[in-house]
This record gives sequence, structure tokens and C-alpha cells, in this order.
Amino acid sequence: MPRNQQILLDNRPQGEATAGNFRLAATDTPPLQDGQVLVRHHYLSLDPYMRGRMNDSKSYAASQPLGEVMIGGTVGEVAESRHPRFAVGDKVVGMGGWQEWSVVDGNAPGMLRKVDTTHVPLSHYLGAVGMPGVTAWYGLVKIIEPRAGETMVVSAASGAVGSAFGALAKARGCRVVGIAGGPDKCRYVTGELGFDACIDHREHGDLKAMSRALKDTCPDGIDGYFENVGGYILDAVLLRANAFARVAVCGMIAGYDGQPLPLQNPALILINRMKVQGFIVSEHMEVWPDALKELGGLVATGKLRPRESVALGLASAPEAFLGLLKGKNFGKQLVKLV
Ligand SMILES: NC(=O)c1ccc[n+]([C@@H]2O[C@H](COP(=O)([O-])OP(=O)(O)OC[C@H]3O[C@@H](n4cnc5c(N)ncnc54)[C@H](OP(=O)(O)O)[C@@H]3O)[C@@H](O)[C@H]2O)c1
Repeated sequence: MPRNQQILLDNRPQGEATAGNFRLAATDTPPLQDGQVLVRHHYLSLDPYMRGRMNDSKSYAASQPLGEVMIGGTVGEVAESRHPRFAVGDKVVGMGGWQEWSVVDGNAPGMLRKVDTTHVPLSHYLGAVGMPGVTAWYGLVKIIEPRAGETMVVSAASGAVGSAFGALAKARGCRVVGIAGGPDKCRYVTGELGFDACIDHREHGDLKAMSRALKDTCPDGIDGYFENVGGYILDAVLLRANAFARVAVCGMIAGYDGQPLPLQNPALILINRMKVQGFIVSEHMEVWPDALKELGGLVATGKLRPRESVALGLASAPEAFLGLLKGKNFGKQLVKLV
């Protein structure tokens, strides 16, 4: 059985996460038992939620235990199988974690799913046609409930979730405005992803400047906001929100290292009679089939062209992950393992 490189959570961050929180280890993969499948991971997904799991505080999910392989989504190929539904060579998506190989119980519900790579590249099953894409779908379709002609705004617009949100909202006839960090990301958001406008939050780095930029790019106000970041951007959106606007609170990455995210004008939620709702995509498994079908179609027809940042080799995962928390990624952050 192959030797397996792994990255473990060694200790918990005190404030900002660092590479020293992780430890590289190696072990032999155990021989397969009946019903088990050996998967060789081709790509590991790095996602902002992993930062929350590194803490030992109360959250919607249990903390990542110390000394164990970091949690994470993976795509790969079946290398050996003792399960009738999986054959050597099958392409699969699962939660293999930060390691090169995993032994999976083929009978455990939701642990391993076969995917079709005829029209959709394998790596996209960790991004646009995977958990981040479904996240965008849920927030847009189930919380914001957009109508054609309405104005939608999304922060972290060039990223895995934000880019899918844009394509889904455009497909419903909305005007879509993105917020992203830097001119390259903004050019990609309007040029490649087809958003109607994009605001560079580095150029508009405070409430007044962001609010003015939103006024310019959203002349009819904002009807739906998909929140990925938090802080002054949310305040600026509240200032430009229309009556009965809806906010899907998906993430607040600006605060994941413990930074406070005060809200200056919460009274606008009342004045504008707004709906503000948080959600966790893994609690809504019932929507995944419909969402994945639509997202797969958008990618296969070229209406959604997701971009990827690919780090090479398992050992590069900690630095790539820390970069993701600072906006160094450009599109879905992956680690290529094969
Ligand atoms: N609720 C759920 O179930 C669920 C599921 C998946 C993801 N999420 C959330 O969705 C959001 C996007 O996730 P993703 O996987 O698509 O990541 P991503 O957008 O591909 O990457 C994260 C991006 O966040 C932006 N960012 C980081 N720090 C920032 C800061 N201080 N201020 C402004 N922007 C900052 C950066 O983009 P810029 O350079 O453009 O600023 C960075 O590239 C995250 O908040 C994540 O936690 C939630």
C-alpha cells in the first residue's frame, strides 16, 4: 500500500493563523477491508471555513481535532476497490482531507460520489460544480429570491462562490455588480464573468468611498446582496439598499482571524424592512442535485468560466491557505497533488 503524506493540525492559532499551526506527517495507507475504496487525490480544496474549524470555540460545526488530518474536500481517482459500486479508474469527489490518499467506506452515505468529467474538468467539482457553487445557488435562489431586472451585489466576486453567484444571477436576468480586490480581479469579473460592473475595494477602502461607488454602479439601488466579507462593505450596502432588499449572509472572511466587524447603521434593516439571513450550505443537502445540475450546465456551455489558483504539492497547502485568507488567491484555491 502506498506511503501517504498528510498535513495535521498541530496547534490552534492565537489570533492570525500561521504555517506553524500545521505539521507535515507520513504514514502507510492500511490494507483495504471489504466495502472500502482507496482513492488517490488529484486536487485538494482550500476553503475559508477551514479557518473556523482551527479554533476551539462554539460554532455551527465541531472543531478540527489536534493531531489529525485537516478536513477538506478532494477529487481523485479510485486506485483500488473492494466495493461493488466503485471500480478502479472511477473519478470521485469526497472529503478526503489534506493528504495524498484516503481509504473510504464506500457504504457511508455522502462520503464518496462518482463524477462525470466528459464536459466538466475534475477540479471544478471542488468549485463551481461543487460546494462553493451550491452555496451561491442556495443564497441566491432560496434567500434572495431574485426577480428579473433587480440589482444584485456580491463581495469576493472573483472567488469560487462569487463567480458562480454572478453567472446564476445573470441567468435570471438581474443586473449584477461585484466587489473584488484589485484591478486584475475587477477586470476578470466584468470581462470574463460578464458582471455589469465591479468595484475595487482596495480603491474604495472606507464606508464613504464604497457607498459612493455603489451609488454610481447601482443607480436603481440594491435589491439583493450576497455577503462574503463583512465590515464596512456591509454598512455601505445597507446605505444603498432598497425597501424589502434581501441579504444572504454567507461568510464574513474579514473577521476570520478574530477582527471585530462592527455594524454602524443596523437601523437601516428596520427602515428598509430588509430580510437578512445566514445559512450553511451543508444543512441544505436537498437542493444540491438541482443546483449542481444548473451549475454543471453553465460550465459545460461556457456561460460560467471559473478561474482557479493552483498550488503544487501537499506541502504548499498551508501557505496557499493563509494566502486565501488575505485575498492572494485569484479564483478557486486548489492544491494539485498528482
Ligand atoms: N455559508 C456557507 O455555507 C459557505 C460555504 C462556502 C463558502 N462560504 C463563504 O463564502 C465566502 C467566499 O468563499 P470562497 O470559497 O468563494 O473564497 P474565495 O472568494 O475564492 O476567496 C476568498 C476571497 O475573500 C476575499 N477577502 C479575503 N479577506 C478579505 C478582506 N479582509 N476584505 C475583503 N475581501 C477579503 C478575497 O478576495 P478579494 O481579493 O476580491 O477581496 C479572497 O480572494 C467566504 O466568506 C466563505 O467563508 C460560506
